[in-house]
Amino acid sequence: MTTSQPQRGRTPSQLRVLMSGQPAGWLRRDEQGRVSLRYDTAYASSRTATPLSIKLPLTEEEHRGRPLLAWLANLLPDNDRVLARWAAKYQVSAGSPYALLAHVGADCAGAVQFLREDQLEQVPQGGLTPLTDAEVGDLLRALAADPAAWTPLHEGGQFSLAGAQAKVALHWDGQRWSEPWGREPSTHILKPPMPSLAYQEINEHLCLRIARHLDLPAASSQVRTIGGQQVIAVERYDRIRAGDQLLRLHQEDLCQALGVMPANKYQAEGGPGAADIVSLLRRVMPATYAEAAIGTFLDALALSWVLAATDAHAKNYSLLLSGPAVRLAPLYDINSVLPYLTATRRGMSPGQVSTHSARLAMSIGGKARLDELDRTAWASLATASRLPESTVLDRVTAVVEAVPAAAQAVLDEEGTAGQLTVDQQAFVEQFHQQIDRRAGLCRNALLGRGPRVPRRTRRAPTPGAPRDDTQAMRSSGAESASSDRNTA
Ligand SMILES: Nc1ncnc2c1ncn2[C@@H]1O[C@H](COP(=O)(O)OP(=O)(O)OP(=O)(O)O)[C@@H](O)[C@H]1O
Ligand SMILES: [Mg+2]
Repeated sequence: MTTSQPQRGRTPSQLRVLMSGQPAGWLRRDEQGRVSLRYDTAYASSRTATPLSIKLPLTEEEHRGRPLLAWLANLLPDNDRVLARWAAKYQVSAGSPYALLAHVGADCAGAVQFLREDQLEQVPQGGLTPLTDAEVGDLLRALAADPAAWTPLHEGGQFSLAGAQAKVALHWDGQRWSEPWGREPSTHILKPPMPSLAYQEINEHLCLRIARHLDLPAASSQVRTIGGQQVIAVERYDRIRAGDQLLRLHQEDLCQALGVMPANKYQAEGGPGAADIVSLLRRVMPATYAEAAIGTFLDALALSWVLAATDAHAKNYSLLLSGPAVRLAPLYDINSVLPYLTATRRGMSPGQVSTHSARLAMSIGGKARLDELDRTAWASLATASRLPESTVLDRVTAVVEAVPAAAQAVLDEEGTAGQLTVDQQAFVEQFHQQIDRRAGLCRNALLGRGPRVPRRTRRAPTPGAPRDDTQAMRSSGAESASSDRNTA
C-alpha cells in the first residue's frame, strides 16, 4: 500500500478534480474560505465531457456559491456523527465539505474524484488491498456496533457516500473483497443492518427485488454473511467493467441536481417534492426520455406507497449523467416500515414505528400520511405535475395490482433458495402477508373505498365507537406505516 498519509490539520488550497479518471478541473478554497470550481478548458470544450452536475454546467468555466456548496455537501454522509468523526480524524472542520473531501474524496458517488496534490502521482495507479472474509466481518461488526465508524482498515481506502446508515464501499472481484485506493473504484456498498430494525438488510433486499420484478430499474443486491456478519451488499450501478478495467459512471442525487442542501432532503424540511422532480425530469431530458423517466418515477412513488417505504426522499433518487445525456438512475435504498409498525403512540422501542405518524418522505397531492392517501391525492399530484390524471392513476393502479404477485414470486424464490434461517423465513413470510394486506388497502383507497381515518375528536367517545385512531384503523381494516425520518 503506497498511498501517501493524509496531511492532518493542513487543508490544501486546491484539489484536483477527476472525472472517470481524467483531469476535469480544480476545486479551490481561498483565504476567506470561499470555494470555487473551475473546469479545465480542454475538458469543458470536449463534446463528450460530462458536467459534475446539471447545476454546474460546462458552459460556465467557474462556479461558486450555493449550487456548488450544496453539490459538495451532498457527496458526504448525511450523518453529523460521521462528519464529526472524520473532522476529528483529519483535524478539519466538520462544517467544511471542501476540507473533508480533501481527505475522503477519492471514491465518491459517481465518476468524480478529488485529489490533493500529494496524491496526484500515486493515485493514477491505484490498487486493491485484499481483505479476508474475517477482516470484512470485523469491519462490518465494528460498523454495526458503532454506526458512525465509517473508517477503512487501511490508509487510502477512504470513501465518501451520502446517507445516514452505516456503510462501507468495497471492491469485489468475484472471489474476494478488497479496499480500493486511487484509481480503483469500489464495486459494492455494504450496509450492516440497523441494530434496532430487525432483518432490515433482508427487508431492503426484498424491496429492491420486488422493484426489479416489476421491471423497474433498481440496484442489484444480495444478503450475505461475511466473516459471520450479516449484511446487504448492493452492487454499484455507477461502476462499469470495460475489458479488464472498471470505470466510474457519473451520477448525482436529486438534491444536488436541484441545488438543495442535504439538511433539506425531506420535503417536510423544505426539500423537493414529487411535482418538483417531475418538472426537473421534464427540464433535463428530451421529451420522449422525460416521459419514460417520469413514468418510472411515478411507479417508484406508487411502490413507496404500497410498500410503506417512507424514506424515499430526494437523495434516494439520482440522475446518471453521461456527456450531455441525463437519465434517471436505477432505484436504490428502498426499505419498508411494514415489519416495524406498532399502534402504540408513546413509549415505543427504537425498532418500532408508530402507525399514527406514518408519513411518506414526499407528499402526494399534499398528503403524506400513508393512511390518508387516496385517489384524490394521486389526482392532485397529476394536476400539480401537469400530467393527465389518467396517466398517473393508471400507473399507480398498475403498480398496486402488480405488487402482490411480484412479492409472492420474490419471496418464494428467496424462501426456496434455502439460505434463510428459520427466524429469517418467519420474517419473510410475515412481510409477505403485510405486503398483501397493504396492497389491498391501497387498492381500496384508489377505488375510493377508504381507508379513512376518522378526524380526531375531543368529545367523549360514543359507546361502542372506536376509542382512538388505532382502533378505528383496526376496525376498518386500515393500516398505516410511519417513520418520522429514517427507517433505512
Ligand atoms: N447501487 C448503488 N449504486 C451506486 N450508488 C449508490 C447505490 N446505492 C446507493 N448509492 C449512493 O450511495 C448513497 C447512500 O446509499 P443509501 O441511500 O443506500 O444509504 P442510506 O444510508 O441507507 O441512506 P438514507 O440515509 O437515505 O437511509 C446514495 O444516496 C447514492 O448516492
Ligand atoms: Mg439513502
